[in-house]
Amino acid sequence: MNNIPVAVITGASRGIGRSVAISLASEGYDIAAISRSVDSEGMGILGSAVEKIGREFFPIGLDISCTSCQVEVVRNILGRYGRIDILVNNAGVAPLQRDDLLDMTEESYNRVMNINLKGPVFFAQKIAKEMIWLRQQITGYKPVIIFMTSVSSVRSSTNRAEYCLSKAGLSMASTVFADRLSKEDIRVFEVRPGIIQTDMTVKMKDKYNKMISDGFVPAERWGFPEDIGKAVASLARGDWDFSTGMVFEISGGLNIHKL
Ligand SMILES: NC(=O)c1ccc[n+]([C@@H]2O[C@H](COP(=O)([O-])OP(=O)(O)OC[C@H]3O[C@@H](n4cnc5c(N)ncnc54)[C@H](OP(=O)(O)O)[C@@H]3O)[C@@H](O)[C@H]2O)c1
Repeated sequence: MNNIPVAVITGASRGIGRSVAISLASEGYDIAAISRSVDSEGMGILGSAVEKIGREFFPIGLDISCTSCQVEVVRNILGRYGRIDILVNNAGVAPLQRDDLLDMTEESYNRVMNINLKGPVFFAQKIAKEMIWLRQQITGYKPVIIFMTSVSSVRSSTNRAEYCLSKAGLSMASTVFADRLSKEDIRVFEVRPGIIQTDMTVKMKDKYNKMISDGFVPAERWGFPEDIGKAVASLARGDWDFSTGMVFEISGGLNIHKL
């Protein structure tokens, strides 16, 4: 059994996931990094960063929406390390195009729901079962599961309803997993980012620049992937050991209801 804790991060090749992976490597975790392809430039950048920190990097190709493919991935990670200490369910997509709710297609709905909700829920289910078993095997083992949702889990955008629906569902996934796993001593948290500068928001850059300069975000700036990476590191460290099922909104204050 490996003595080094292991972090599994989906959607690790870029953006928020990459920053989370680097933060967790800095906290002393070996990194099992998942994205659709192991050969991308992003996975190469992450691999070098993790190894520079002195931790092991295990790149894994998986389309998270393929729930049957998840079985082999979990088996491979456990075969290599014998443990999984933290799962960060971060992979997610926006709709390929923004359409009015009344024109939303079933195809787009299924794509977004399968990647953003079904995939993470069944991945968490598989890993949670392993964590329950691992708790009996490893002394001092403190497993954590994180769901990366969005402020869109509680805010409506009528031109990307499928995204909002998927994130609202994922928010409840965090709650039900926290509820079920509390008696297993597994912490579950929802991390809820606001407007973060990544590939996902690049197409909307002008719109968000204007909203931010017009005061929409109380902190008056974009969020950066590192803002999320730091927060996840704090959850992983055990700073929030007497909490579970909590929502950590990291949005520069979008949570404030102003009059
Ligand atoms: N950026 C924001 O403003 C923002 C705000 C709130 C919440 N979020 C959420 O934060 C998470 C990360 O977002 P981001 O902004 O970092 O996005 P991003 O830069 O577009 O990165 C998305 C990541 O997900 C991976 N991915 C996409 N589809 C996948 C699939 N089917 N299977 C496995 N991996 C897949 C991508 O890897 P490959 O393309 O290499 O496969 C990539 O690593 C998402 O869940 C997103 O909804 C983002």
